[in-house]
Amino acid sequence: MPEQNAELKKEVYQLAEGYSDSSPQEILEYALNRFGSGITIAFSGAEDVVLIDMATKIRQDVSVFSLDTGRLHPETYKYFDVVRNHYDIPLEIFFANRDKTEELVLKKGMFSFYRDGHGECCDVRKVDPLRRSLGTRAAWITGQRKDQSPNTRAAVPVVEVDSAFGDGTLIKFNPLANWTSKQVWEYIMKNDVPYNELHEKGYVSIGCEPCTKPVLPGQHEREGRWWWEEATKKECGIHSGTIRPQV
Ligand code: ADX
Ligand code: SF4
Repeated sequence: MPEQNAELKKEVYQLAEGYSDSSPQEILEYALNRFGSGITIAFSGAEDVVLIDMATKIRQDVSVFSLDTGRLHPETYKYFDVVRNHYDIPLEIFFANRDKTEELVLKKGMFSFYRDGHGECCDVRKVDPLRRSLGTRAAWITGQRKDQSPNTRAAVPVVEVDSAFGDGTLIKFNPLANWTSKQVWEYIMKNDVPYNELHEKGYVSIGCEPCTKPVLPGQHEREGRWWWEEATKKECGIHSGTIRPQV
């Protein structure tokens, strides 16, 4: 198995090199056609909606899921249904682990993350359902971009092996890795893509309600997430298996 994984890593690394200058649409087309029903798009309810717009223009049978931590904004819940209807896709929602969430809340209350850091809560509300949603998939697609976090995402490649989940052979595509926030928003406007109304209220990056706030002009989008924690810790576990330092 280790030898097989080394081979796979090499192959994926070469793929990342080959597609490093490609458009998100070219990367998506490759990913969707290569993996078919074995691949799924992770949609957070924010501007990563562009992936759904691009993907459904390539093929209609795309699989898309969102993780419902139970702590999202009402606007985000409404937006999930807007996207589902607009693109006519069966958006799959995966809920937080019931037993472990109940246990955490019983022990520490509803806001333990302000005191103890976000890791514990993200584990039961995000990482656990992500593991279920990836299940038997061979690959997944995320909206991660380099410009989202100079501290943790500066080296995000367009495709990588995700060793945090599965058996070490899961492939993770990040087709927007090299796009800037400006490019994403130009695409949204040009293509009449429906967006989360929180963006009109000063939110740039959107996560859970107690852990996300609007940012001021000039502030980096990541400053609106887990603002009480150090910048290098601002990953919730769904991407931390592939955290890379600033390059
Ligand atoms: S996070 O790890 O800090 O929360 P971020 O909000 O930047 O991630 O989003 C990056 C990508 O992670 C999204 O484009 C999406 O692919 C995935 N993601 C984040 N949150 C969710 C969610 N609740 N449901 C599904 N995918 C998500
Ligand atoms: Fe819990 Fe906050 Fe993580 Fe959401 S972002 S799962 S509320 S710690």
